[in-house]
Amino acid sequence: MATKRNGIQTPTALVTGGSGGIGLEMAKVLARNGFDLVLVARRRDTLEAAAGQIEGTHDVNVNVFASDLRRRETPEVIFDFLHNENIPIEILVNNAGFGLGGEFAETELTRELEMIQVNIAALTHLTKLFLPAMIKRRSGRILNVASTAAFQPGPLMAVYYATKAYVLSFSEALAEELRDSGVTVTALCPGPTRTDFAASAQVTNSRLFAAFGTADASDVAEYGVAAMMHGRRVAIPGIKNKIIAQANRFAPRSVTARVARMFQEAR
Ligand SMILES: NC(=O)c1ccc[n+]([C@@H]2O[C@H](COP(=O)([O-])OP(=O)(O)OC[C@H]3O[C@@H](n4cnc5c(N)ncnc54)[C@H](OP(=O)(O)O)[C@@H]3O)[C@@H](O)[C@H]2O)c1
Repeated sequence: MATKRNGIQTPTALVTGGSGGIGLEMAKVLARNGFDLVLVARRRDTLEAAAGQIEGTHDVNVNVFASDLRRRETPEVIFDFLHNENIPIEILVNNAGFGLGGEFAETELTRELEMIQVNIAALTHLTKLFLPAMIKRRSGRILNVASTAAFQPGPLMAVYYATKAYVLSFSEALAEELRDSGVTVTALCPGPTRTDFAASAQVTNSRLFAAFGTADASDVAEYGVAAMMHGRRVAIPGIKNKIIAQANRFAPRSVTARVARMFQEAR
């Protein structure tokens, strides 16, 4: 159930992938700002640990929803649950996502199709479901976690980079459609960040993760939530990442692809 303070319903933020990494850090920032939370991830134990940690520190209510976004029906199940519990979502953070390194000819297709489902389809589906109520209320914020991978093709991680290009393009287009609607859409584009992501994507030895310098997930989260609250369309944390994103706008795609390949190769 949604909590009420002084008879006013506390606004709720839904964070996918809210049990660890950047998502958990964003959940903490949102809790500090007084938002109740709904956290979605697959593992119930880590979700409950995250909820306990947040509720122990902040005066907010945290609901957990253990569910797999690789399943096509999951967004609908989450939406129906929240609708039945009468929990309106003021902030939707589409953060859950994963990558996979390797030559496309050799990587596992099943994992890549699941990646497209989580990184692209679930994000799109959740946005489709939660957006109408935000438009009706003339209030709401959507934060889609893309990546600096969105700005160029990514050899040796081709599908992942392409999913993030989708997230960036989709978010920017939607932000423009929603101009003056009271609803904002922000694409957060972090560079390499210290979480479980690199190990799960099997890219810990890449130059990008081993030599480029990784950011702290809490710094990325602070930056992303602040950008979302300001209604910024694209948020790139870190000066190095900003420069690379800008440089990518001007360099030929064949060059940016080659540079990205160099970063993806093992050190
Ligand atoms: N770390 C980086 O270097 C980096 C850089 C740029 C962008 N990003 C993006 O940032 C986002 C968060 O990544 P992270 O680095 O924080 O990764 P992470 O530490 O691996 O955390 C991923 C979160 O998503 C959940 N999750 C994974 N698969 C899921 C599924 N099928 N269904 C539901 N939940 C799922 C995980 O919990 P369960 O495993 O329990 O499901 C966990 O809570 C991703 O979209 C990633 O692409 C990361």
